[in-house]
Order: sequence, then C-alpha cells, then structure tokens
Amino acid sequence: MLEDLIKEFKEIFKYDGEVETFFSPGRVNLIGEHTDYNGGFVFPCALDFGTYAIVKKREDKTFRMYSKNFKSLGTIEFDLDNLVYNKRDNWVNYPKGVVKTFLDRTYKIDSGFDVLFYGNIPNGAGLSSSASIEVLTAVILKDLFKLDVDMVEMVKMCQVAENKFIGVNSGIMDQFAVGMGKKDHAILLDCNTLKFEYVPVKLKNMSIVIANTNKKRGLADSKYNERRSSCEEAVKVLNDNGVNIKYLGELTVAEFDKVKHFITDEEQLKRATHAVSENERAKVAVEFLKKDDIAEFGRLMNQSHISLRDDYEVTGIELDSLVEAAWEEEGTVGSRMTGAGFGGCTVSIVENDHVENFIKNVGKKYKEKTGLRATFYIANIGDGAGRYVK
Ligand code: GLA
Repeated sequence: MLEDLIKEFKEIFKYDGEVETFFSPGRVNLIGEHTDYNGGFVFPCALDFGTYAIVKKREDKTFRMYSKNFKSLGTIEFDLDNLVYNKRDNWVNYPKGVVKTFLDRTYKIDSGFDVLFYGNIPNGAGLSSSASIEVLTAVILKDLFKLDVDMVEMVKMCQVAENKFIGVNSGIMDQFAVGMGKKDHAILLDCNTLKFEYVPVKLKNMSIVIANTNKKRGLADSKYNERRSSCEEAVKVLNDNGVNIKYLGELTVAEFDKVKHFITDEEQLKRATHAVSENERAKVAVEFLKKDDIAEFGRLMNQSHISLRDDYEVTGIELDSLVEAAWEEEGTVGSRMTGAGFGGCTVSIVENDHVENFIKNVGKKYKEKTGLRATFYIANIGDGAGRYVK
C-alpha cells in the first residue's frame, strides 16, 4: 500500500525524488469516558489502523495538502504567513491548526511541505481521526524541522489546536493515546497530572470488536461542549458550598454522595454523577484487568454504557441498539459506546469463538431497529505516531 501512496503523491505533486513516510493511529477508549476534561482517568489504546502521510519539504512557505479520503476537494493550499481558520479549507484546518500552534510556541518552522494523507479509520466515527491527523502533523513538523520537542509536549499542542483553532473543547485523551500508544497495551492516564501507566491487554481467547453505527454525528460538537460546561458549573456550585476542588475527578463516589445535594439543577447533577462514577469505575476496572479478571472488566464496561446512557445522555438509539444487541449475544464479555458519543462507535470484548455470530447477529438486529448498516472491525492495539517504514 505504501508504494501506491508514494506513487500517487509523485503524480499529484509532479515530483520524482525521495519522500518521507509517517503513520499515526486512531484510538479506542476501553473505559473512562468523558472523564478526561473532568481531571479523571481514561484507559484508551492506539489502534493498528490510522492515517498515513507521504511528505516532501518545500523551499517556500506554501503547504499543499491532499487527502485520498476527500478526493473531491482536491489539493488545498495555505501559506505559512496566513494561518487562519477557513471553513472552505475543510479537513486541512486540522493540520493547519497544528502548524499555527507550533509557531505560536516559537518552534522554528520556516517553510511549507507537500503532503498526501490517507486514513483507514472511518472519519468522524469516534475513533479519533482528527487527533490522528493532528499528531501526525506534529510528528512531521518535528522530523522535517528537527525540532527539539517530546511527544507529550506535542500531544498538548495538538489539544490546543483542537480547542483553540477548531473550537472543540476536547480533553487530552485522544491526542495522548494517538501519540503515546504502545503495542498490546492500553494507557491508564491521569488526565489531571498526565501521569500514565502502560497496562498489558492480554485477552487470551477474546478480541476487541469495534462496531461503527455509521450515524452522521450532526451537532455533536456543540453537545459535547454543553456536557463539559455542565460539569464545570457543577464544580462551581460545589465550591460555592465549601467543597474545594478544581475537577470532579478529585472526588470519590463516597465523597460526592456527601455533597451532591448542593447541586440542585437535575441535569447538572446527572452529568456530575456520571463524571464521578465513571472515573471510579475506570480505576477499578483497570485493577481487574491487571488481575486478569476480564469478566469483571467487561461488567464495568456495561455499567459505563448505562451511566453514559442514563446520566450523561450521550448515547442515542443507534449506540444503545448496538450495545443492547451485543449484551444479548453469547460470548460478549462487555460492550459500551466509546469516544464522545452521539453516534460513532461501540467497543466490545467478545470471545473469539463467538465473534462471527456476534457480527452477524448484532448487525442484523441493528439494521432492523435503525435501518442502518453497522461496520465491524477487529481491533489490534498498535504503537503511537511516528516515522513509518514498511
Ligand atoms: C472525545 C474527546 C475526548 C474525550 C472523549 C470522551 O473523544 O476528544 O477528549 O472527552 O470524547 O471521553
């Protein structure tokens, strides 16, 4: 495949010399959802599919970008001296925002580059196609301009690009998983301190199955920002009543139970209840995984979905139908929505002997309920972003 991408790059950019090649994964979060911006724990892993880039540095200040996933948009150009968000530039705003953030931090980038991107993660499906292209751009910049910057710093800059340039107030989970991922491990990340631990994911006779609802996400970004604001409001209310915290993630469920009566707005209370309980669930679940108790890990995945459905209210008929159908299948150890929600994907742990039937039956029930066709992937856990050599 790499050969084909290089060939296509050379045709599009009419160039025939050496090129650089890079890869950046997508991610799936196993548990700890909507906890990152609440200063809590997440437990994502990088996937072995993601975004590829074929790159050639230029002498002038022009960037020319082409994506095989958005062929009809053709090659989109921008200039190093004019790094502003432009709706017309569509997906190119992601890499552009990263270049801008690097420059704002005074990293020395003095020319542009030509790039062809190709992603085999579904776009906008909750598997972090945007973090993938952001971190990929960071890795390209570091390499081409020989920048002295480590991955965690780049991860943080990519989050800034997403927050400030794109305007989605996302947490750090996606960029962190994409940048810092490690083959066959998930990352237990404390999003408050950025301390992290690689935990081996040994599923023996089981697989991670991702199911895409294929639902268009619509107003997801504004609903995401709303959830985040509700949690911040809840923190304010608690602090006004003598609780002294920066994030909901600082409270255990027991501590929260003692003070939650201060939150009188019903919706805010539900959002905060999820944030606190999910954070605790993630920590407990990882302990079970470390003890090889996958059954208990799976049970907590199910609880996580229920909390996201009833308290955080970010699931909807599509995600619920997929998860409920998964729960009914023999051989399902756990199943939940993953990522921001409002459409996107579910993640399930399924016994290998049952994966084939799982895909057939869950797909059928989902189609009957929603009229949509789900897409299934068996996920392997891969490494974080970097140079790519075949
Ligand atoms: C999106 C955001 C992440 C995180 C998840 C929900 O993927 O980009 O920062 O908040 O939603 O867990």
